[in-house]
Amino acid sequence: MQRLPDGCCDLIYLDPPFFTGRQRLSNRSDGPSNGYSDRWTGGLKSYLAFMHPRLVECHRLLAAHGSLYVHLDWRAAHYLRVQLDTIFGEANFLNEIVWHYRTGGVASRWFGRKHDTILLYARQAGRHRFNVLREGLYRTDGLKHDESGRPYKMTRKGRLYFHADGPALTDVWDIPFLSTVSSERVDWPTQKPLALLDRILRVSSRKGDVVADFFCGSGTTLVAARRLGRRIVGCDVSAQAVRIATRRIADAETQTVRGRRSRSIGPQARS
Ligand SMILES: C[S@@+](CC[C@H](N)C(=O)[O-])C[C@H]1O[C@@H](n2cnc3c(N)ncnc32)[C@H](O)[C@@H]1O
Repeated sequence: MQRLPDGCCDLIYLDPPFFTGRQRLSNRSDGPSNGYSDRWTGGLKSYLAFMHPRLVECHRLLAAHGSLYVHLDWRAAHYLRVQLDTIFGEANFLNEIVWHYRTGGVASRWFGRKHDTILLYARQAGRHRFNVLREGLYRTDGLKHDESGRPYKMTRKGRLYFHADGPALTDVWDIPFLSTVSSERVDWPTQKPLALLDRILRVSSRKGDVVADFFCGSGTTLVAARRLGRRIVGCDVSAQAVRIATRRIADAETQTVRGRRSRSIGPQARS
């Protein structure tokens, strides 16, 4: 990070260790597991001291229109929010995104913990990229319908119609966690679904933008970014992770080239 020039990234996504106090290992039955340590000898203080300089670097590396997503959970999200408010300025806080999923263990002494928190900051709020995505359906029960059957709300100004592409995404995202048997799975623990990164990239970046992930793990962000025609920067402290990510990116590039070729020769070749 220190070797990169100021303002060179359009979007940064960080998915650091979550301060679980555990060894994070993949579930492999046919050989040694891959993974990393999320144990902190000095406790929370040492975890926060580890994160702080990295967040400061993110701030320096972001372009004026850039955004930072920091993926955490209940263990440290509130502490890092305070750090980020100090580094980025409270005014540049945009969202606390709740990524809700259903998988995982069952709790009997408290509510099941079924979400991660993703903090979103702009380098300069107002100048940041933000493409509104729409998904899902409006609640239309009890509404009137016009001559062509379209639901509308009656307001003082007249009929208010809903956007044809559905409601704008909110800060609560329901995206399934990767199942253990998902075809997307590679041999790395805490791998995130491509669908999650695809959404982040579509909202906060454009084709040709530089997307960085400095805790890239199995390379999910980098794969999703290449699929969308973004340029990438990534690193991970684990050589195993870098090997897995490099292979995944190469596979994604091959699939993209194949897809492009079959699209360009498709209809003409058949006619
Ligand atoms: C939660 S995982 C990232 C998973 C990734 N998003 C994916 O989809 O595969 C956290 C990653 O941080 C890496 N890591 C831990 N300490 C690091 C450090 N000092 N610098 C860079 N990466 C580090 C770990 O090796 C691990 O791959």
